[in-house]
Amino acid sequence: MNDTPRRFSRRRFLAGSASVAALATAGLPLQAVESEPLDLVTRQTSYAFDRPVTEGLVSLIDNAPPPVIRMRQAAPFVVNLTNGLSDYTTMHWHGIRLANAMDGVPYLTQFPLAEGDSFRYAFTPPDAGTYWYHPHCMTMSQMAHGLTGILIVEEPDDPGFDTDLPINLKDFRLDDDGQLLPFFTPRGAARAGTLGNVRTANWQIDPVHELPAGGLVRLRIVATDTTRVYKLVLPDAPGTIIAWDGHPVDEPIAWPSEESPMWLGPGQRVDVALRMPDDEGSELTLQTMIANRPNSLARLRSVGPSLKRDLAELKPLARNPVAEPDLASAETREMVFGWTPEGDGEDNGFCGNYGYSFWSIDRQPWPGDAVEGVGPVADLTLGKSYVLRLRNESPNLHPIHLHGLAFVPIQSNQRQLPRNWTDTILLLKNETIDIALKADNLGDWAFHCHVIEHQKTGLAGYIRVS
Ligand code: C2O
Ligand code: CU
Ligand code: CU
Repeated sequence: MNDTPRRFSRRRFLAGSASVAALATAGLPLQAVESEPLDLVTRQTSYAFDRPVTEGLVSLIDNAPPPVIRMRQAAPFVVNLTNGLSDYTTMHWHGIRLANAMDGVPYLTQFPLAEGDSFRYAFTPPDAGTYWYHPHCMTMSQMAHGLTGILIVEEPDDPGFDTDLPINLKDFRLDDDGQLLPFFTPRGAARAGTLGNVRTANWQIDPVHELPAGGLVRLRIVATDTTRVYKLVLPDAPGTIIAWDGHPVDEPIAWPSEESPMWLGPGQRVDVALRMPDDEGSELTLQTMIANRPNSLARLRSVGPSLKRDLAELKPLARNPVAEPDLASAETREMVFGWTPEGDGEDNGFCGNYGYSFWSIDRQPWPGDAVEGVGPVADLTLGKSYVLRLRNESPNLHPIHLHGLAFVPIQSNQRQLPRNWTDTILLLKNETIDIALKADNLGDWAFHCHVIEHQKTGLAGYIRVS
């Protein structure tokens, strides 16, 4: 059945040739968009950052970051995942609205995979855009060791970029000899989380990407770090924000400045359309603000004669088919995220517990891995609309993430939020945000903070749609 040569459309071929070059410099193997099953094996590997080789990293490729996986909107996709690690694992497809059984959440939707076990993840992504994948078992340790990858769902219509450049932002915690430092610290877990000390983009430190001068670039920036809230700026770059958390923006988002950078919390994504400068050698720099100072994460350098493109030539992205909630009939459910009196977590599974419960949803810390006897944070009826009132009663930031459904922020007690579809929303200190959704996907959907130390010490639960 598969002996006919693979057919690439002309568009694919053209888009592919530009992005292959870009991805080669990014060190990211390009996955074919064809929907034949992809076989992936989790494995330990080593990699050299800017110091002696780091051993014990986790990836799906030897000596390289996990690949960018591309699929097509509305086309079936299959991944056979085999666990090559001695620890248990599962894989989760962050932001994809899929069938619950494919969501990769241990105990809630599947059993953890032991060494040598395989699982067939098959789904048809309804929405185009920039998503990502990561384990949901041993999440803290496997993500901190590198297992986070970008997942791209291509639009049927080519928007017209010369280059598509995915950027996976992630920190590592390394000592001078390249060895991994503890990624979980009780002190960090009880506060803002434990930050890494080596900032990378596609596992590279401040890489330079050579891109056609005067060309149009789609930068897909994905915050896969377990802790860091990026505050991104792209000084002097002519560009616009075209998508946020996968979905094309309905309400424009202001271009960032050092005074008001783009805040991208763990789990969030932003797609930016940029025009490269005309002169060969000119650079645009993606930076993150730390203590009010810009730090370079990646550079884009113009090469070759100018393509003389214009941002106005880009086709706007089509909206994704997310159902609008009916606010008139929506019921409101409130939930509060906060500390808990310190207690002991339970160790009732194979997915990595640390024995602490610093955090809670509705004063209930998530008790370990297994869900037996733990009720949902909210019980929603299929097809109905809801407003979820998310209240942060702590001084820390929490990127709150819901699996399986997209939602839209409708108000905050602190700021004006653009009404764009998302799956992860950053709650600021003492902020309350109302989000609205239509409960149109059946199942038990994980609902948690994406600062993984918070998730793993209580700030987790699930929402049931039945
Ligand atoms: Cu990206 Cu439950 O997570
Ligand atoms: Cu998710
Ligand atoms: Cu949190």
